Amino acid sequence: MVESMIRDSSLAPEGQKKIDWVKEHMPVLSKMGDLFEQERPFAGRKVVMCLHLEAKTGYLALTLQKGGAEVTVVASNPLSTQDDVVAALVAQGIRAYAWYGATAEEYNLHLHKALDTRPDLIIDDGGDLVSLLHSDRKDVLPNIIGGCEETTTGVLRLKAMEKENTLAFPMIAVNDALSKYLFDNRYGTGQSVWDGINRTTNLVIAGKNVVVIGYGWCGKGVAMRAKGLGAKVIVCEVDPIKANEALMDGFQVMPLVEAAPIGDFFVSVTGNKNVVRKEHFKVMKDQAILANAGHFDVEISKQDLYNLAVNVVEVRDNIQQFELPDGRKLNLLAEGRLVNLAAGDGHPAEIMDMSFALQAQSLRYLLQQRENLKPGVHRVPEDIDRQVAQLRLDALGLKIDRLTPEQVDYLDSWRL
Ligand code: ADE
Repeated sequence: MVESMIRDSSLAPEGQKKIDWVKEHMPVLSKMGDLFEQERPFAGRKVVMCLHLEAKTGYLALTLQKGGAEVTVVASNPLSTQDDVVAALVAQGIRAYAWYGATAEEYNLHLHKALDTRPDLIIDDGGDLVSLLHSDRKDVLPNIIGGCEETTTGVLRLKAMEKENTLAFPMIAVNDALSKYLFDNRYGTGQSVWDGINRTTNLVIAGKNVVVIGYGWCGKGVAMRAKGLGAKVIVCEVDPIKANEALMDGFQVMPLVEAAPIGDFFVSVTGNKNVVRKEHFKVMKDQAILANAGHFDVEISKQDLYNLAVNVVEVRDNIQQFELPDGRKLNLLAEGRLVNLAAGDGHPAEIMDMSFALQAQSLRYLLQQRENLKPGVHRVPEDIDRQVAQLRLDALGLKIDRLTPEQVDYLDSWRL
């Protein structure tokens, strides 16, 4: 067995069942796995995946392994790791450094151990691996051909590095592909956030006031599904264009300080820090529910909650209750970490099928094009983006129309 650091290898059969279940619902990735098995595009290559270690990610790791890669997995968040899934991967020859609830030191050690394998290729979710490679682990940089980034926050960090000219290798912004963010960010987050909140709180959403903070693609999904569950939705934004969009999508728009006394549920989806803070907690209703769906646990100020509280109790798994001096109680879900993964299983399998098919194809593209891709942030090529969308339709047995030759000519022409 390859060297690993995991919680309990005896959990492997449970984890394998979870992987087998999602596999049935990820036909696009399965198709790529079949091709990879024949072509072995990653033969002799080491890949480190820093992702949320749940079943769909496990299936991606096994797919790359089929293509000849020597795969190491490490967590992109200490609370999203599913120990049984990780055990199942290790049982299949994948190296893993991760366990649920890793402390900050352990999390950091795991990232270092993964980089000690000196990967050729990386997949990152949120940018922690790239950040470490450009700070404490510059020794590994010469090995790296490039990588792919999964999420909005990670792409923002990469673009900041690119602007400063510090990004040392090509990174493909998988997040920015159309067949990623239009589905994963919007419908994936929309469903998985409510799944996480519902299974954690077991409370009704219909008739409640839901405050969605941030109206990017993820916020749009969260607001849309809250409406579908019967909530009255309020959107808070800092961007006038997005605020107009929210308004015309049928939501109330107001500053958070005005929404704070009204809201029953608050969901932050901004990618920024200290978005929900002291001045808001001070006016919130008793029993308000606070959840975060952004990548880092910085959006809801835990510091302010601890400073204000006279008592903190874990009232139910994944719910910390902060009692304020006047007796009001505020409920923080999943320690303010992304609620869909820290208190759920992440996005549905069919959604991650497209996202992870894009990851697999982009990684192969990176390897094929390594001589031509300069350090910096690159888009997923349009043909890969469209291929993934088409394969998903094929898997569903759905056909769509084609342009006639006359229509193609018409679109290409400027003459009347
Ligand atoms: N499962 C694995 N990675 C995920 C992500 N970034 N978002 C939601 N679910 C996931």
